[in-house]
Amino acid sequence: MAERVKWGVIGAGGIARRRTIKETMMYAQMAEIKALMDIDEKVVKEVGREWGIDRWFTDVEKLLQEDIEAVYIASPNYVHYQQAKASLEAGKHVLCEKPLSLTLEEGKELALIAEEKGLKLGVAFMMRFNVYHKEIKRLIEEGALGQLVAGRAQLTCWYPPLPSAWRQDKEKGGGGALIDMGCHCIDLLEWFFGETIEVAAFLDTITHSYLVEDTSTAILKFRNGAQGIVDNYFNVPDKAAKNILEVYGTKGAVIAHQTIGQDPGGKMWLYQEKGEKSYNAEQEREENAYKEIKLEPLSLYAQEIDAFSQWIRGGEKPVISYEVGLRNSKVIEAIYRAQEEKRVITV
Ligand SMILES: NC(=O)c1ccc[n+]([C@@H]2O[C@H](COP(=O)([O-])OP(=O)(O)OC[C@H]3O[C@@H](n4cnc5c(N)ncnc54)[C@H](O)[C@@H]3O)[C@@H](O)[C@H]2O)c1
Repeated sequence: MAERVKWGVIGAGGIARRRTIKETMMYAQMAEIKALMDIDEKVVKEVGREWGIDRWFTDVEKLLQEDIEAVYIASPNYVHYQQAKASLEAGKHVLCEKPLSLTLEEGKELALIAEEKGLKLGVAFMMRFNVYHKEIKRLIEEGALGQLVAGRAQLTCWYPPLPSAWRQDKEKGGGGALIDMGCHCIDLLEWFFGETIEVAAFLDTITHSYLVEDTSTAILKFRNGAQGIVDNYFNVPDKAAKNILEVYGTKGAVIAHQTIGQDPGGKMWLYQEKGEKSYNAEQEREENAYKEIKLEPLSLYAQEIDAFSQWIRGGEKPVISYEVGLRNSKVIEAIYRAQEEKRVITV
């Protein structure tokens, strides 16, 4: 097996601590985390102690001088661009949390730097590694669902106003429920259906006192003609969340609950039409038409770090290379414009 890739982490105290560092240390085969950085000294020290990583810093430049090959950036959205740029300029491969940057233009600039320097750049859409999502992709590719007709991807959480939360400030987060959670939903639907060509949306703040949207519903039209719904709410109780994913085709459909999220599992049901359909004016329904598909869950975060590490070691390009991050920013910018201009926007 190829030598493990040496990683540094920027922004070690949030999702990195809760998921990526933990699951990489526990399950990854191709990566080792050698150094950490966070602006919060107490936190970075604690994370270092938790995992026996004694190289920790509060300064990005110091981290970049370490003997590391790749950097995982999990700091707040508004510093992604500058930290990714500094990391690339220091010759490090970069896997950045979503969004790659606050604007598409900045993302393109990062992509250009990575290409010029021959470095790998990716965006951490780890939900592509959910075993159920991979199965949906496989079913679509083998034609099991027929012509794709429609899809829906939902992600919600309860997110009340919190003092100095960067996500609740448009300048720092780039928006609310759409950019924060909808980005994953859009990414999954684009993976299944292909490019979005038109969008329309309602984005509102109806519950909380912050200014970013807490209630977001976007409608997508894909190049293949299929239609999609992406719904994201910061104002639904966590225990009410089903995080529904639905993919409908002319020959079958898939419905999944709780596969969209940070946990590797969830539940999924598949319906497949047998034989030829004919028109039935009774529109007969069958209670047990869907069959549950059960798969062994695997860490999303360890898989994404491993896939990216393999790419660095000369393996195939993973499904989370920067192109998907740029696509995502493009669609999200179009959705915010659709809301502002109250019309359908061509992506
Ligand atoms: N893919 C996922 O599952 C997932 C889940 C949550 C968050 N995210 C993304 O990860 C990023 C972080 O989100 P979070 O929820 O962990 O946020 P958070 O606020 O909980 O944690 C961010 C961490 O970054 C540190 N930090 C703040 N400013 C910094 C800076 N300038 N440089 C370095 N570190 C800094 C903070 O001290 C904190 O430890 C965001 O881009 C978010 O969109 C991804």
